[in-house]
Amino acid sequence: MRGAWRGLGPRGELLGSEPSAAEGWIRDNLTPIAELVTGSHRVRRMVGAVEANARLSATLGMVLLVLLAAEGASLLVIHRFLVIHIFLGLLLVPVVLLKLASVLRRFGGYYLGDLRYRAAGPPAALLRLLGPVVVVLTAILFATGVELWLFGYRYGSVWLTLHQGSFVLWFCAMAVHVVGHMADGPILAARDAAGQPAVPGRERRRAWVAASVAMGLALAMGGLLYASPFPAVIGH
Ligand code: HEM
Repeated sequence: MRGAWRGLGPRGELLGSEPSAAEGWIRDNLTPIAELVTGSHRVRRMVGAVEANARLSATLGMVLLVLLAAEGASLLVIHRFLVIHIFLGLLLVPVVLLKLASVLRRFGGYYLGDLRYRAAGPPAALLRLLGPVVVVLTAILFATGVELWLFGYRYGSVWLTLHQGSFVLWFCAMAVHVVGHMADGPILAARDAAGQPAVPGRERRRAWVAASVAMGLALAMGGLLYASPFPAVIGH
């Protein structure tokens, strides 16, 4: 089944095919930066199911990058417009949960000995070490945010300290995560957007991503109906 194997070559290229102009640009310009985190890229062989999972993870990563940047920008006006921060935070929840499910699938596949995930290998050492840290900090950041939205200071200001403290650590870990994936992320996501080369399940992956954003929007809009006890204008 030689034809069923594909994957990323030493410089992030698709094995056995000419790169598109965009992939060539990413490899020339972004791969050297990503390699500051990953070291030189290894060949990563992926059968359909593994590449399908990687494409879903990467596409969600791209969607998250945009939403997280907007959430980050909301910090500039958080003292006056906390509602924007809460809206975007709730919108992010289902997208983050789907991303966690997709990385957990890879984690489970690898550690439970699925030969397809074993053949593709683990992430580069630093990203592999950082993976659980990113997951735990993300869980703390979002859980404490939702707690503050639901209960305000009812259970003490420790929740705000945890939310702010986890944000600082999460931001540092996420910066390394994003730099480490700044070459393979866009390449995998662009391949799935273009359907080139085809990997089965593309429509289903799209539907999952769209559904997670739609659920996020529903949650965020529903959240507007809830009168949070957290002070609407911080520091006033
Ligand atoms: C809340 C946000 C996020 C969480 C919790 C998260 C978590 C993870 C984890 C635990 C992994 C597996 C370890 C690894 O390969 O590094 C992973 C993989 C990955 N992430 Fe993220 N990530 C997030 C956001 C992002 C963003 C913004 C990007 C955009 C660059 C991104 C791109 C990727 C890519 C391309 C992979 C590799 C997928 C694969 O090849 O299987 N992630 N993510």
